[in-house]
Amino acid sequence: MQRLAPALREDGVPLDLISLIKTILAACKEISFRVGQGQMSGVMGSTLDENIQGEVQKRLDVVANQLFKDITLESGFVRAISSEEEDTSVPGNPNGKYIVSFDPLDGSSNIDINSLIGTIFSIMEVDEDADPSDPNIFMQPGTSQVCAGYVLYGPSTMLAMTTGNGTHFYTLDRTHGSFMRTERNVQIEPETSEFAVNMSNQRFWHEPMKNYIDDLVAGSDGPRGRNFNMRWIAAMVGDVHRVLVRGGIFAYPADTKSADKPYKLRLMYEANPMSFLVEQAGGLSVTSTGRIMEMEPSGIHQRVEVILGAKKEVEKCLSYYK
Ligand code: F6P
Ligand code: MN
Repeated sequence: MQRLAPALREDGVPLDLISLIKTILAACKEISFRVGQGQMSGVMGSTLDENIQGEVQKRLDVVANQLFKDITLESGFVRAISSEEEDTSVPGNPNGKYIVSFDPLDGSSNIDINSLIGTIFSIMEVDEDADPSDPNIFMQPGTSQVCAGYVLYGPSTMLAMTTGNGTHFYTLDRTHGSFMRTERNVQIEPETSEFAVNMSNQRFWHEPMKNYIDDLVAGSDGPRGRNFNMRWIAAMVGDVHRVLVRGGIFAYPADTKSADKPYKLRLMYEANPMSFLVEQAGGLSVTSTGRIMEMEPSGIHQRVEVILGAKKEVEKCLSYYK
């Protein structure tokens, strides 16, 4: 059956996509509420289980995943979802036009210390005849995303979102329960003097990254001729948010720490949505060999090297690999 052309909002975003986004935000508001209740919510601490990636699941991971999954699948807009906390994709409405990949609670190691955590999501369209039970319907490059965003559960709850028409910030107005747009067309300054990387992995990095970071740390005594500051929140949502707000470069480079896991971050629900947000804000998001959003994925939990942020600084970092 031929699909009818979707109703369009003035800025070109289809109304059914807006409805799906509202559904996703309803789940995030509920997660925000539970996070805000802290130890009174009964969802702090760890479960006895591990997820597909072999990481111990926090109770809040499980609760956030269940909330996000139930609300999006019930909406009717979604053909299937895939999540960091689900072994494989989960089928939804066979007529749903969209698929959603998400990390229900990014930065879980911050839960117990009452520090920054968030939800990351990525939305793509599927072919009309796509089988809702087939995980391969997710195997599309990041350039196919029609919307990406994260909700940061910080001192205030903030949404960063793009539908391909700039990256915008919204703040949750707790009195009315709605996200108000608080900044349009966020732009990342092309130059920066701030970097974010887990320095404890330095001895496991490949030579180009070791040399690049050595030169940043050498500051005004080294070839860069100026000092660089370092920040590491250990939640990608927090670190990318800082890069969007005040600039910087963020990297989770390849390392040789464990032979079977050269990369840490996940392509479908971490790197791709963050890349879309960063590129829409004028930044770059790459691996040491190419643009992240052009990668052809091979699995829903695939991991990838990530270098993103200020355009000129990312280019500088890449020059060490040449
Ligand atoms: O989801 C993975 C993640 O928690 C990211 O949010 C974060 O950037 C990174 O891992 C932190 O890694 P590490 O534990 O090495 O600091
Ligand atoms: Mn994560």
